[in-house]
Amino acid sequence: MSIEIKTAEDIEKMRLAGRLCGEVLDYITPHVKPGVTTETLDKLCHDYMVNVQDCIPAPLNYAPPGYTPYPKSVCTSINHQVCHGIPNDRPLKKGDILNIDVTTIKDGYHGDSSRMFIVGGEEASTILARRLCKVTHECLWLGISQVRPGARLGDIGAVIQKHAESQGFSIVREFCGHGIGRRFHEDPQVLHYGKPGTGIEIEPGMIFTIEPMINAGKAAISELNDGWTIVTKDRSLSAQWEHTILVTPDGYEVLTLSAGAPANPALLA
Ligand code: MF3
Ligand code: CO
Ligand code: CO
Repeated sequence: MSIEIKTAEDIEKMRLAGRLCGEVLDYITPHVKPGVTTETLDKLCHDYMVNVQDCIPAPLNYAPPGYTPYPKSVCTSINHQVCHGIPNDRPLKKGDILNIDVTTIKDGYHGDSSRMFIVGGEEASTILARRLCKVTHECLWLGISQVRPGARLGDIGAVIQKHAESQGFSIVREFCGHGIGRRFHEDPQVLHYGKPGTGIEIEPGMIFTIEPMINAGKAAISELNDGWTIVTKDRSLSAQWEHTILVTPDGYEVLTLSAGAPANPALLA
C-alpha cells in the first residue's frame, strides 16, 4: 500500500474539485421534492457539472475490476439502500430518506461528497429516519475531528463506531472511506469502525474521504441484481454522509465544503 502525499499544486486543484462537488449538492437541494424522480435529479446534476462547472461526473461509466460500468452521473440511495443506488424513473415519496453522492473531476482531480435529504422536509419523516440521518452526520464530523498529523486511522473509525452503536445503530463494514486525488479511489482505506491508536499514522498532505454508512437495523448488506445497488439485508433504513478531507500541518481542511453545506452538528460545538 502506498499513500500519495499531495504537493501544493495537487492541493490547489483538489480544493477546486472539492468545492465544485459541494456546489453540485447545493444546486440540487431545492429539486429534491416529492414526485421528482432520481433520474431527473441525475440529469440536472449531470448537466450542471458538464455545462456550468466544466467538470466530468466521475461515476459515469466508472468500472472498477469486477463491476459493469456505472450507468449514471450520481448515486442516489433511498431508504434501505446503503450506497451506489442507480437513479431511475420512480418518483420520490414524502418521508423518503435519500443520499445523493456526487464525485466531480475537475482538471484531472476528484472531489467526493454526499448528503442525506429528507423528502418533503424533516416533519415528513419518521422520528427514526430523522435520528438516523442526524446521528450519521454527527458520525462523519466526529471522524473528521480526529484528523491531524500523528493521529491514526483507527482513531477515526473508533469514534464513528462508538457514536453509532451508542445510538443502537450499526456500521456497514464492506465499504470504507478512501484516498482520493487524480484517481477516484486510492490508498488508504479509511474504516468506519476500529480501535483508537491502531492503523496507519495520519500525515500532512494526505487526502482521503470519510463516508460512514450506518444502518438502523443490523449491519449485514446484500447487492441487487443490477450489480451496483447495496441494500440492508434486513431492509432497515440506512444513511450516509461524505466529505473529502485534507490533512494539514495542524489538523484538517474539509475540501468539499460549499456555501450551502449543512451546519456542523451541535454536538461538536
Ligand atoms: N462516490 C462513491 C464513493 O464515495 C463511489 C461511487 S462508485 C459509482 O466512494 F460508480 F457507483 F459511482
Ligand atoms: Co467516496
Ligand atoms: Co462518494
